[in-house]
Amino acid sequence: MLARSLVQGARAARASSSLTATASARPSTALRLARTAPASTWAHVKAGPPDPILGVTEAFKKDTDSRKINLGVGAYRDENGKPYVLPSVRKAEELVISAKGDKEYLPITGLADFTKNAAILAYGKDSPAIKEGRVAITQSISGTGALRIGGEFLKKHYTKSNKIFLPTPSWGNHTPIFKDSGLEVNQYRYYDKNTVGLDLKGMLEDIKSAPEGSIVLLHACAHNPTGVDPTQEDWKEISKVVKEKGHFPFFDMAYQGFASGDVDRDAFAVRYFISEGHQIALSQSFAKNMGLYGERVGAFSLVTGSQEETARVDSQVKIVVRPLYSNPPAHGARIAGSILADDALYQQWLTEVKGMADRINGMRATLKKLLVEDLGNKNNWDHITNQIGMFAFLGISPEAVEKLKNEHHVYLTKDGRISVAGITDHNVRHLAESLHKVTS
Ligand SMILES: Cc1ncc(COP(=O)(O)O)c(C=O)c1O
Repeated sequence: MLARSLVQGARAARASSSLTATASARPSTALRLARTAPASTWAHVKAGPPDPILGVTEAFKKDTDSRKINLGVGAYRDENGKPYVLPSVRKAEELVISAKGDKEYLPITGLADFTKNAAILAYGKDSPAIKEGRVAITQSISGTGALRIGGEFLKKHYTKSNKIFLPTPSWGNHTPIFKDSGLEVNQYRYYDKNTVGLDLKGMLEDIKSAPEGSIVLLHACAHNPTGVDPTQEDWKEISKVVKEKGHFPFFDMAYQGFASGDVDRDAFAVRYFISEGHQIALSQSFAKNMGLYGERVGAFSLVTGSQEETARVDSQVKIVVRPLYSNPPAHGARIAGSILADDALYQQWLTEVKGMADRINGMRATLKKLLVEDLGNKNNWDHITNQIGMFAFLGISPEAVEKLKNEHHVYLTKDGRISVAGITDHNVRHLAESLHKVTS
């Protein structure tokens, strides 16, 4: 019955379409194809906006002017503006290659030799939490992957709240990472436009007024994008308020060593919070401090209440990771693991991290000196040297950012953030002169 009516329907359709064809002029082939081809499955998909940071690099690449400078992307450059592979990383990689390891899958939580030492780097070699077996840790796809595992884990197992509070502003990827994890993203005040510094009062007020038990995302050091960090005294006040409200602190530490040049100093906030009894979550990235950007090396950890609890938490972390990507890549973790495990390589790496931080701080000082002393710019540029880490938040208008790009071939993100790591002795004068012109 149904089959017969389908055949009849098809005949009727053919008859009517041949009638239309003879009644009107013969349609073009393109028109006939358009009429008969089914709409694409993805016809409704709208073009999304380009990534705000990677889009800057695209525009930079198209510029043919020899003076062009890319200060958009947060990747370290050497004094000649070239990508930098740390000599300790080269050595470790040679060790990894000469060991002729196999290409088997790693366990779900990654390479234990790497994660064990990653935890020591963050929590400290004398950390009671580590000694007591109270750190559950997994290797991750760099810092982004660690944050995503954390988001998933908290959504599933943190029962007090699904609200996460981020600083304003924060790294642009935080919001989509936590939204995609199913958390509700909220903000707390962080940056004060007027002082180009930390709005500690606003930050504490907002953390205080967040519903009890909320998740609070904290940049452990070298805040991205502002380069504005709380002082050690500020951290103590932040810890107190977080504790009073029973909030859950989630630290993002993407720049350990990059901020001050000292990995222990940069871990102050993480270690202080633990000494105050907080059970933190921690995301670590080895992209910047080891220059392992494309190798995607990171770790996610949680401080638990006991060794037995660590084992239970660890089993659930595995259940989060398995359907996301099964297990992490091996090569980068072997490199980072070799550096962290070998005394001589580790010492060499510490010197190299300090070298990167020192070069960045040197460029901050040169840029400020050129602006203030050589060019006589009347604005206050103290924040360039007061801020810390890879980025400087210039505090300039979006119009000035546009002019820098269109008239001076200087590329940065719309919010006025520059990656200081992209400044060199060769381009700093052009940058200072351009900044002077667009801000005078
Ligand atoms: C604050 C912050 N968190 C996390 C990351 C993650 O980076 P990756 O996934 O490359 O380790 C970045 C990178 O720019 C960052 O700035």
